[in-house]
Amino acid sequence: MEDYALSFWIYMGVMSVFVGGAMKKILASHISAAPTLVAWLGVTVLVERLCSLWPPAILVLAILCAACCLFSGKNAPAHTLPTEGKAVFITGCDSGFGKATAQRLDALGFEVFASVLDLSGPGAVELKRVCSSRLTLLQMDITQPQDVQQALISTKAKLGLRGLWGLVNNAGVCVNFGDAELSLMSNYRGCMEVNFFGTLNVTKTFLPLLRQAQGRIVTVSSPSGEQPFPCLAAYGASKAALNLFINTLRHELEPWGVKVSIILPSSFKTGHSSNSEYWEKQYKHFIQNLSPGLLEEYGEEYMLETKELFQGHAKTANEDLSPVINTITDALVSHQPKIRYYAGPGVGLMYFICSYFPVFISDKFLQRLFVKKKVIPRALRKQNLLNNNNNNNNNINKIDKSK
Ligand SMILES: *[C@@H]1O[C@H](CO)[C@@H](O)[C@H](O)[C@H]1NC(C)=O
Repeated sequence: MEDYALSFWIYMGVMSVFVGGAMKKILASHISAAPTLVAWLGVTVLVERLCSLWPPAILVLAILCAACCLFSGKNAPAHTLPTEGKAVFITGCDSGFGKATAQRLDALGFEVFASVLDLSGPGAVELKRVCSSRLTLLQMDITQPQDVQQALISTKAKLGLRGLWGLVNNAGVCVNFGDAELSLMSNYRGCMEVNFFGTLNVTKTFLPLLRQAQGRIVTVSSPSGEQPFPCLAAYGASKAALNLFINTLRHELEPWGVKVSIILPSSFKTGHSSNSEYWEKQYKHFIQNLSPGLLEEYGEEYMLETKELFQGHAKTANEDLSPVINTITDALVSHQPKIRYYAGPGVGLMYFICSYFPVFISDKFLQRLFVKKKVIPRALRKQNLLNNNNNNNNNINKIDKSK
């Protein structure tokens, strides 16, 4: 009996270290379903052990559960902050998340400043038509410092002495094509220029107004800034830089009362992604600028497959943008916004697998999830063929000798 008790406590010790560690990591990631899952698994094991040792435990647990339900029920009503008189500035409202966010926040009663690349484009025209008179449209390319400065002046002119409640950093680009080695330098620089330096300049420019209102900064980033998705090196690296900048701001701005959140959406149909003309143009540009050596070693069929996979992926992306718009709204109106919001199907599972599984599994997962390449680079195919032939020859030799 004593032996059994000892092994039980060792077992309990190991289990609590494991479950505790997992819980801590998952809670820090702010995924809603995962903590429940891990807690549930841990509790199942503990209950099973406890009940076999001490049968009345089940009754005690039932009473505890009931008490927890009552307690959490009391705390449930979620208060949101009033939106009246609060101003929010959103970048990249020509289409996608930006446009949908501008519409939603306007409907909620915010005073929206929506920046667009093209004031006479279809996105801007539609916003003008469907939104209230509180909405202000501004022309701004976030990579042009004079545009950013002008947007600040226009915003200040409307706000008067008031501060800015929210900045939604949404504008971004994904000009990417293929493997890291094949991606052009201009691709890397282009992504950095918009996603990192552009957002950096806008954030710095509006920060004094945000500090004044003790407001919020909400930044749309990407899971590819946290995990190495195949074919997204340029885009991912720019988002990784952005994440680090925003995360640093988060604790530095705490004393000022400014709260900072990052949104990590899965793939959605936004921007150019479903425009096949756009993909063709990108592909032509890419092939024309690639060095002949690389073109020879990888082979055009390899690049063509990558393009088709990207296009196929874009076709299956989610059309309903509301998971992302909901999280952006929550980050602006909730009393305690989360640090990170994972938005959209599959992205929570991705976080879980990439955090808790060995690298060879998480790498495979990312490859399967995104672009499932089948074509092997031309030079590698030749090598494989040679190796196979050598092997066959060796076998034949062996058979000959054994005769
Ligand atoms: C934005 O970038 C421009 C050009 O680099 C710079 O002159 C300006 O000071 C930047 N804005 C802020 C607030 O740092």
